[in-house]
Amino acid sequence: MRALHAVLLFLILLFCIRAKKMRWCTVSDPEQRKCAELAKALVAALPPAAVAAFARLSCVRAYSTADCVSKIRANRADVVTLDAGEVYSAVKQFGLVAIAKEIYSDGGCILSVAVVRNRTLDIRSLQGRRSCHSGVRWTAGWSLPLGFLLSRNYLTWTKEQPLSQDVSTYFSASCVPGAAAMAPSLCALCQGHKSYIRQRNFHCETSHSEPFYNSQGALRCLRSGAGDVAFVDHLALESIEESEREEFRLLCTDGTHAPLSHYRNCSLGRGPGGGMVTRLNYRKIARKFLVTVQMLFGQRGRDRQRFQLFNSSSFGENDLLFKDVTEKLAILPDDKDVSQVLGLDYVALLKGLGHEGSSLEDSVVRWCCISLAEQKKCEQWALSIKSDPLVCVRAVSMSECVEKIKRDEVDAVSLDATHSFIAGKCGLVPVVTEYYGTKCEPAEGTTHLETDVLPSVVGVAVVKRSSRNIFIGNLGGRRSCHGHMYSPAGWLLPYRLSLSLLHNSSSPCDPNQVYNDVFWKGCLPGSQGNLCKVCMGGTGEAATKRCADNHNERYYGNMGALRCLVGDASGKSYGDVAFLEQHNVEANILSLSPTGWADGWTPSDFELLCEDGRRAPLPEWESCNLGAIPPNTVMTRPVLTARVYDFLMKTQETLSANPDSEFKLFQSKQYGESDLLFKDATRCLVHTSHMDTRTILGEEFYRHAETVFNCTHSDILEFCNQDVCSIF
Ligand SMILES: *[C@@H]1O[C@H](CO)[C@@H](O)[C@H](O)[C@H]1NC(C)=O
Ligand SMILES: *[C@@H]1O[C@H](CO)[C@@H](O)[C@H](O)[C@H]1NC(C)=O
Ligand SMILES: *[C@@H]1O[C@H](CO)[C@@H](O)[C@H](O)[C@H]1NC(C)=O
Ligand SMILES: *[C@@H]1O[C@H](CO)[C@@H](O)[C@H](O)[C@H]1NC(C)=O
Ligand SMILES: *[C@@H]1O[C@H](CO)[C@@H](O)[C@H](O)[C@H]1NC(C)=O
Repeated sequence: MRALHAVLLFLILLFCIRAKKMRWCTVSDPEQRKCAELAKALVAALPPAAVAAFARLSCVRAYSTADCVSKIRANRADVVTLDAGEVYSAVKQFGLVAIAKEIYSDGGCILSVAVVRNRTLDIRSLQGRRSCHSGVRWTAGWSLPLGFLLSRNYLTWTKEQPLSQDVSTYFSASCVPGAAAMAPSLCALCQGHKSYIRQRNFHCETSHSEPFYNSQGALRCLRSGAGDVAFVDHLALESIEESEREEFRLLCTDGTHAPLSHYRNCSLGRGPGGGMVTRLNYRKIARKFLVTVQMLFGQRGRDRQRFQLFNSSSFGENDLLFKDVTEKLAILPDDKDVSQVLGLDYVALLKGLGHEGSSLEDSVVRWCCISLAEQKKCEQWALSIKSDPLVCVRAVSMSECVEKIKRDEVDAVSLDATHSFIAGKCGLVPVVTEYYGTKCEPAEGTTHLETDVLPSVVGVAVVKRSSRNIFIGNLGGRRSCHGHMYSPAGWLLPYRLSLSLLHNSSSPCDPNQVYNDVFWKGCLPGSQGNLCKVCMGGTGEAATKRCADNHNERYYGNMGALRCLVGDASGKSYGDVAFLEQHNVEANILSLSPTGWADGWTPSDFELLCEDGRRAPLPEWESCNLGAIPPNTVMTRPVLTARVYDFLMKTQETLSANPDSEFKLFQSKQYGESDLLFKDATRCLVHTSHMDTRTILGEEFYRHAETVFNCTHSDILEFCNQDVCSIF
């Protein structure tokens, strides 16, 4: 009985599978021919039973990739390969699933490049030119270049209308296949046959019947002289003949040109490559199909002499069914959501470009706050500004702010130099940098200070004057106070010194290990073990566990490290040495008593430890410090730079127009803390979105940070490195 059941079940299953036939959606005659050849090759290469079971292929001709998506939804076709931008829409808007993606010789990501022939053009002078794009909302032809142009403010987006409207007036004429419904000028350069009969219209369609379709077509558009610039993926450059290469130039982000071979360091960003989509209930069969065809006809396929999956040359077109440069297909497991498949940076970019339509969110700026005190200050800030809505979003540490920005849960935050380094590695970009100079007067005729000279602060080691036998070099076995995890003054700088006999230049290079080896215990908020033992935690509204990586921990930051040095009322939790920033140390000492921490301390009760083993009074910090610290920088996702910049400049204008306003952006003492949201030493914010993080931080600091992070584990960098293709 049981056996009979099993046999019946098997027969039913077999019948179901038999009934399934893989219907591949094609968008042109050449693609239809390649698909038909594949179907024949499958029949020839597999035994009839196997073909019948899972390898019967038929080819469904559609007019465009969008038509394919509708056909798949309507169960009139099953699978199609799409650009990642279309994969995103197919999944988010139309409920399809991604089942595989193309992998190329250098991985699954593509670079967007701007190609020109006229050497007088540069990336800043594209306004009014004629442009060729691989496809509308495509990664390399649309999203990455527009994201870049917006981030530099070369292109402005009047948020009342879709971005495509501003693009259509930015370029004088374009060919953007797929954009017919958006604006006529976006299709003006296209050359496909025009017809009012849907089936016969190829003009501006995402189909090979439109000569300027996809990256190859966009290059054709450039070659033919129809366009001045083509936005394509780097893979398409391979098809340009050696003899022709000298005619073309890439436009780099810094306004220079480069030969085609330099696409790695002359691109407008990185994003995911193509992928295949199907209906949810069809995914298992479709995956099995892809595994089979790849095994037979892929780069190392068993039956390559019969058919080559990634070669379109005998059909008179490029990139049919798949990109010709595909090395293999990576089959995706079920449990991956679209941001894991396409990458967080990319998904955030698409949202930023209004891929899912605009929303109320588009007009607010979400600022990251890491503690109750910061939240209070941020809320005051939100109340003090008139026009632009500001929303304060809470995270538990600066590192989490970086993560939340990447996840599109918050938009911007001002980061210390080490966290700026991390954020840069995570694909975030600078907007403005805190300026610690004396004056912020803008030059004649400008509204804001513009300068490339960014004053730094310095890190110092502070001790109580009364602890007379403490020096750099004999700190072994003592108690230490460090601003916070990764803080430049508390974590990055001190470990370089010979802190003790135990720690000299031949010692390990991981700061966490050094501090654990050298000090008996201490407070380094955000760490673990002995270096949390001296921390206090927080009470009341700001209650938190000991060692939290934010101001709720009483010993967090510059103010916290000083509190740690003088100790709490119980006299138990104190340090022998504090590593902090010099800029507000005297003010912080004087505010110890008003904030109810400890009475009677004056600056003369403290001394600095110099690198050479001397001690010096606080005012001698210029000759007795642990090194320079580059300024804090406000960082965001690339597509938001212009918006965050406008927001901050308006805030700055509002506040300077109302000098009597109670709210001060660069003061924190009202909240009983220091350096909330911005360093208190800030005089104004200086535009730096045209610079990269490395330039802002300076070569020396940047290399030092690189060395250190090469030998310490960091969860946040690990998180960022997992992203499929980080934009930079
Ligand atoms: C290149 O562009 C410049 C304008 O920037 C134009 O004057 C010139 O004629 C163009 N050259 C060619 C060969 O099209
Ligand atoms: C860009 O890369 C090429 C090699 O791919 C190299 O020769 C060139 O110096 C690089 N340019 C810059 C500015 O890094
Ligand atoms: C593609 O196929 C053509 C002919 O079918 C062949 O000459 C060519 O070498 C193939 N290309 C690659 C990269 O295998
Ligand atoms: C450096 O530290 C190691 C132990 O970490 C020690 O063996 C060595 O003697 C020290 N060197 C100097 C010059 O102090
Ligand atoms: C850090 O490691 C990366 C990758 O392993 C390497 O390219 C880089 O040169 C290293 N940097 C330093 C400063 O050691």
